[in-house]
Amino acid sequence: MKNNALRSWLVAGLGITAAIAWAGPLLAAKPLTLVDHGRELFERQWVAGEAGLAGGDGLGPMFNHVSCAACHRQGGLGGAGPVDVNALMLSVNVPKLPEATQRKEFLAALKNLHPGFLSASGDIQQNLILHRFSTDPRYTALRQRLAGPDRPFQPSTSEREAIQSDVARRPFRTATPTASLTLAITERNTPALFGARLIDAIPDAVFHSLAASQSKHPEVSGRVAPVEVTKVGRFGWRGQIEHLHDFVLGACANEMGLEVPGNAQPVDPLLPEYRPAGQDLTAAQCMSLTSFVASLPPPRFVRPDSDEKQRLVDAGRKVFHKIGCAVCHVENIGQTQGIYSDLLLHDMGPKLADPVLAQPTLVATSQNLTSQERVKAIQQQPVATQTRQMYYGGTVVTSAMFSSGDSEFTLFRPLNSKTAVQTEFRPLESNRSQEWRTPPLWGLADSAPYLHDGRAATIAEAIVLHGGEAAATTSRYLALELEDRLALVEFLNCLRAP
Ligand code: HEC
Ligand code: HEC
Repeated sequence: MKNNALRSWLVAGLGITAAIAWAGPLLAAKPLTLVDHGRELFERQWVAGEAGLAGGDGLGPMFNHVSCAACHRQGGLGGAGPVDVNALMLSVNVPKLPEATQRKEFLAALKNLHPGFLSASGDIQQNLILHRFSTDPRYTALRQRLAGPDRPFQPSTSEREAIQSDVARRPFRTATPTASLTLAITERNTPALFGARLIDAIPDAVFHSLAASQSKHPEVSGRVAPVEVTKVGRFGWRGQIEHLHDFVLGACANEMGLEVPGNAQPVDPLLPEYRPAGQDLTAAQCMSLTSFVASLPPPRFVRPDSDEKQRLVDAGRKVFHKIGCAVCHVENIGQTQGIYSDLLLHDMGPKLADPVLAQPTLVATSQNLTSQERVKAIQQQPVATQTRQMYYGGTVVTSAMFSSGDSEFTLFRPLNSKTAVQTEFRPLESNRSQEWRTPPLWGLADSAPYLHDGRAATIAEAIVLHGGEAAATTSRYLALELEDRLALVEFLNCLRAP
């Protein structure tokens, strides 16, 4: 058996033991565990057109990188990513266009810019992932027209610093290619995955009680990150994904263009009708990938070796609590120790605004319909309920909705035809462009750069960019003696990758 063949056997997730038995003395007798197998998939460098056992098309056609490990790597496998592998998003501002001809022109201009803005059914997709690469050579020109020249693939230290200062200077780039069209490009930095299993396991009730107790705080009011109607978001900068496995599936599809169960690979905007012949990973392979991510140990608190430094760290910890950092960056939640996050959404002020919004909390009210109302409701009942997963944004309940006119929101009114009860869901108002999930600070010292787009090169820069609900805390930080500020950073520098 050739090496390549052996490798594809191993990554195929089928007949692992058979492969080992066959390979005989080549491999140690110990059978591969689910986690070992998942690690291989995490590190595997995907290649376009390399069909696996499930018959997919390998990497792409749209992709941001060739492996999970290429982005998640600082402080060890599964860690955070440097600024040069940031994922880019493209958003369009949809103006009110009362006249049909204006609207038609707008749609044509949009389609010309990036065909992905229009779905197959003609709806506008306001936010797109602006993939870095495509197997389609024509894509380079399209992307450059929108985002300018690509960043160096393996930047030198000075090139990386240049990228960093560019992101810091222009975290929110806008372009107006035609008079009616305003585009924005924003970024997402790669977070570390250490301890993800512990985040996944936190029960919903813990989030609700944290939010309830915060609502009494004079400055801070975290919101449970909603997923659809009743689920709780735990992952993503916007808290947009409920569980680890969902995020892993989304990452396979959106970062590497792998077709996986329940998550189609993104469409090539220049060849929208193309679909792969099969899947790139089986459900079992995806499970092992998640098992690997879930096996990554949580970060550590590393005490400094000198007594003098230890005193500084102790002082820094006190400052952290005294000026209010710990209100959001909660040390322990539920059974999860040392996480330094409440995982709730907070309004962080206009400087951190971003067009790919957090999801609204939907409040349900139910009403018994009269028989007449019921007949009418059944007539109006839309054909199907549809939810659209937005990997970097959240889940949008799209159809089965009655548009509520002017508002950007739609109302969702499903009818239980047996009981004639109609439930209406109304979104609660909040500053959704400015709300971010408090990132866990564990592992902080090994995860630079900071904030959702990596605009802050250092911990101190990240702190001073806190506004909104954290504005008062930031003022207290700025009023500290220099020594206390240094102590705070010294304390945070003890939070290391495992
Ligand atoms: C191009 C770089 C890149 C690649 C490749 C990549 N990721 Fe990520 N990953 C990111 C970014 C950026 C985010 C943050 C996205 C967000 O929060 O909206 C992220 C977030 C995640 C999260 C959520 C972490 C959290 O705490 O919120 C998980 C889990 C994850 N990635 C797993 C994977 C897996 C598994 C793969 C391979 C299949 C992968 N990623 C490939 C960049 C990458
Ligand atoms: C109101 C809640 C709140 C308070 C108070 C708060 N933070 Fe944050 N913190 C956040 C949120 C939300 C983010 C993410 C913002 C973003 O990415 O745009 C964040 C991000 C950070 C980051 C970057 C983490 C990363 O992985 O990128 C650091 C470091 C940090 N905070 C430290 C502090 C310190 C130190 C204090 C006290 C001076 C503090 N925070 C106070 C909510 C808060």
